[in-house]
Amino acid sequence: MRFIPVQSLMEGMVIAKSLYDINQQLLLREGTTVQKGYIERIARLGYQGIYIDDEISKDIEVKDVIRDELRMKAIQSVKDAFIYNDLSTLSGQKQAKQKIDVTKMLITNIVEEILENKDTMINLIDLKFFDDYTFFHSVNVAVLSILIGAELGLSREQLFNLGLASILHDIGKIFIDKDILNKPEALTESEYTTIRKHSEYGYTYLKNTFEIPAAVYVAVLQHHEHYNGLGYPNQKSKEDISLLGRIICVADVYDALTSNRPYRKGLLPSEAMEYIMANGGIMFDIKLTKIFARKVAPYPVGTYVRLSTGDLGIVVKNNSEACMRPIVKVFVDKYGNKVSPQIIDLKEDRLLRNVTITGVNDIA
Ligand SMILES: [Fe+2]
Repeated sequence: MRFIPVQSLMEGMVIAKSLYDINQQLLLREGTTVQKGYIERIARLGYQGIYIDDEISKDIEVKDVIRDELRMKAIQSVKDAFIYNDLSTLSGQKQAKQKIDVTKMLITNIVEEILENKDTMINLIDLKFFDDYTFFHSVNVAVLSILIGAELGLSREQLFNLGLASILHDIGKIFIDKDILNKPEALTESEYTTIRKHSEYGYTYLKNTFEIPAAVYVAVLQHHEHYNGLGYPNQKSKEDISLLGRIICVADVYDALTSNRPYRKGLLPSEAMEYIMANGGIMFDIKLTKIFARKVAPYPVGTYVRLSTGDLGIVVKNNSEACMRPIVKVFVDKYGNKVSPQIIDLKEDRLLRNVTITGVNDIA
């Protein structure tokens, strides 16, 4: 399969990965042929594109680090957790606790699945809808954070704490006026100040409401602190920020940058990776940005790329030790002629040492 940006979708293409709508109901099943009307619908939901199957990409497998089913359940649990219960009543308290228990169980499962797939690089292409951005984003941040934590060799207990903190990192937003959160125009300074309070609100809410380890709510408090001390709310720097808080910060920024938002288009994974790497030692702990580059593919498998030679191909596999130089299947030459497919490993091939990727998904 390969990834096709929504603007390059055409009738007759065959969908390779099922699509769900905002209520997690199946929208288009794997194997369905794209028909007139589908394309606009897919774009309207906020998808950047979809995976399709064709002759040239039939042997390319895109593997997620967690199963679709578990991802959908996790998205639903965040959605539930973001519905505030009246804590002044016993039933409200009970419901809030039940919801957190479901989230805890799902985090345990996500940690186990990620540990099983620990050696794969994550091929994260944004598949979020506008309306459910926060919930999709929270789960992505959890998956990315746990992946970094696993690579760091954290214990299962630490990974659980990291997963819980990362999936709930923005829970404090339930205490912020929806009109400010959803405002499409530029925010005023006072509105920014209000939004920035969400990390403290989340900390207080989690600490006072649930029986969860301190490491979890401290990480929620610190997820917007920056390594150089210029973050918020307490301008903590370097190792004064907890390790879990530092990890969530990297994952949060990466996923936010790659997301389509109603007011701007998301960056490509390679562009977002460049931003993360450039901020190693500034916004982020450099040790973590290096691990991030080993685990997250800037050119995800199935992405269409243009090489500096002018040839076109599809990314087949990633090299974790050289993330900018994946293995590419070239099938169109620089003159635009179809050629018999050739596999090129940009890391190994000495003749191709100077070949780089210069464009992504710019044609289909
Ligand atoms: Fe946040």
